[in-house]
Amino acid sequence: MTRLVFPEGFVWGAATAAYQIEGAVGEDGRGLSIWDTFARTPGNVVGGDTGDVAADHYHRFGADVAMMRDLGLSAYRFSVAWPRVQPTGRGPANAAGLDFYDRLVDEILGSGIDPMLTLYHWDLPQALDGGWTSRDTAARFAEYAAIVANRLGDRVSRWTTLNEPWCSAFLGYASGVHAPGRKEPAEALKAVHHLMLAHGLGTRALRDALPATAEVSIVLNLAAVSPASPEGKDAARRVDGLANRIFLDPLFGAGYPADVKRDTADLTDWSFVHDGDEAVIATPIDLLGVNYYSPTVVDLGTAEPDSPWPHDIETVAPPGPRTAMGWPIDASGLGAILTRLRDEYPPIPVMITENGAAFDDELTADAVRDPERVDYLRRHLTVAHEAIRAGVDLRGYFVWSLLDNFEWAYGYGKRFGIIHVDYATQRRVWKDSAYWYREVIKANGINGTA
Ligand code: FCB
Repeated sequence: MTRLVFPEGFVWGAATAAYQIEGAVGEDGRGLSIWDTFARTPGNVVGGDTGDVAADHYHRFGADVAMMRDLGLSAYRFSVAWPRVQPTGRGPANAAGLDFYDRLVDEILGSGIDPMLTLYHWDLPQALDGGWTSRDTAARFAEYAAIVANRLGDRVSRWTTLNEPWCSAFLGYASGVHAPGRKEPAEALKAVHHLMLAHGLGTRALRDALPATAEVSIVLNLAAVSPASPEGKDAARRVDGLANRIFLDPLFGAGYPADVKRDTADLTDWSFVHDGDEAVIATPIDLLGVNYYSPTVVDLGTAEPDSPWPHDIETVAPPGPRTAMGWPIDASGLGAILTRLRDEYPPIPVMITENGAAFDDELTADAVRDPERVDYLRRHLTVAHEAIRAGVDLRGYFVWSLLDNFEWAYGYGKRFGIIHVDYATQRRVWKDSAYWYREVIKANGINGTA
């Protein structure tokens, strides 16, 4: 084993999202989100699970932040629930909702941890008609961003507009496995644009409200795409377009890719892109967040039911180990994404804002032995370290997730936490991976896998 030490000041974090951990969905004036509606509709979430109680973080945030301090985290990435701040997605702020995040931020800072705030991690106010297919939602998002920035901008310096707009658009509007559960591929493309417009308008609103030193970012789940066979080469190009370049190109000023527009011409004429929109989307940001779990292998074929990709493309499961999600374990995709960003896009600092794995953890007495998760994290951190040596401007790493939580359409059955949650009692137990991560942070390094 080789000792791999990270650069001084490397950010060690953990990530969560509001709907996945907070619970308290009916408290202090919170409005309904599309995930409340979606999860409460039978058949959408395994076991009929909802985020109604989740990990009860809304009431237990003090103890949860104390665990973050004990872990030694330098940063904590969390999201604000838009329907707590604006219950109907528009109009004046709900004071009680903002107060919660005010107390949370003070608790985080008081523990010596740097808060990294995501404005949108999928819990759109239900009252916003049309959701992301409506252009107006982008303007509403910018207003919401300004409200939160005006309240917390004196203390929070790291701001993220959107988490994984690919999931919001393609899982929400094409495959329908996420809220709002629509299966209309043309609407998904419209949603992509309105999300990116929201990002651009939101970035401008944040710049107006925040000190010049604030860091503004977006978080993308970029895909490491490869073809399963020579015949699948063009399928891989198309998937790369829809997963990566449709976001990265406009973000970095090149507009929507011509091949993506051509590939989707049977669905839409792209007239939802108005003059000036692409300039808004290209508003400079300070950091790019990358979430990575697993590589994507595709081929020409027949799309499986609920696939977010075009109907003549199938995803192929490569051989080798998998997580409890069935996702292949292969850290090389993370390296491929990071070096590609370095080589093909303008220079920008990057953080890995989510990485982690679900396994069928078992709680025995007061312990959870999760060597597979430790192995998974070690492999990905080894690749992260390699990327830094190869000149990637990688500034930090956030494990997904701090706590077991509501894993969207999979409900509570899939456990990603480094801390175990017993949902019947809300007791938290550190898994072995949490103790391991604490040592990694303390040493600012790992024993690498290679
Ligand atoms: C990401 C999401 C996050 C979590 C992980 C497993 O796509 O951002 O909320 O569900 O996957």
